[in-house]
Amino acid sequence: MTVIRIAADMLLSEQELSAPAQSSVLRIKRAAQDMEELMEAFLLLARESDQGFTQEEVCVNDIVTEELERARLIAADKPIEVDSTAAGRLWVVGPDKVLASLIGNLLRNAFSYTDSGRVTVRLDPGQLVIEDSGIGISEQQVKQVFQPYFRASPQRRGGHGVGLTIVKRLSDRFGWPVEIASTPGQGTRVMVRFPAARWEAGANPPP
Ligand SMILES: Nc1ncnc2c1ncn2[C@@H]1O[C@H](COP(=O)(O)OP(=O)(O)OP(=O)(O)O)[C@@H](O)[C@H]1O
Ligand SMILES: [Mg+2]
Repeated sequence: MTVIRIAADMLLSEQELSAPAQSSVLRIKRAAQDMEELMEAFLLLARESDQGFTQEEVCVNDIVTEELERARLIAADKPIEVDSTAAGRLWVVGPDKVLASLIGNLLRNAFSYTDSGRVTVRLDPGQLVIEDSGIGISEQQVKQVFQPYFRASPQRRGGHGVGLTIVKRLSDRFGWPVEIASTPGQGTRVMVRFPAARWEAGANPPP
């Protein structure tokens, strides 16, 4: 997978690539990246025990900043405003890769299922809230989103319907409950709670 991604990078640096060829290579690169992440998440879930996982405090603010930057790239061509606020720093004990996979999947969804409008990310004591003003889903569909391969709008390109299945499994395993509320045509709100998190008020939050 890494070979594919690096080869795509090399192709992209070629000067005389036509525009359609360039966008094809970009798609290859993104697909390889997605696949790498998916494999990473499966490997995390496949571990029998939690031994080997770092039990260090991780700053959720830093992970949100990093994943937000990456998720925003998928929607670079869409008129979406991003609003991210944190009145302090949220510290959680757990593997940073697990947090990145969980938060990254939620952020990618917010951008994928919003054509225009706003994505709001807020860190509060003990919780992360991601809100979008996107297409939304019905109450009935909200009940099904954690099932493998479920997609409410299969005609939308790119998804496999496994992102939230991974989110749910990581959430159950690490004890970080995820709640989803959505209204068709208005948007979606996802809340992740971190019951044992430490909150450091006002300490140099990201912009
Ligand atoms: N923020 C959101 N707004 C509207 N619909 C959403 C949102 N997040 C998820 N969904 C719906 O739930 C479905 C399942 O989401 P999930 O992340 O599991 O899969 P996916 O995004 O289709 O594919 P992938 O496996 O690449 O993440 C989506 O296909 C979409 O219909
Ligand atoms: Mg998804």
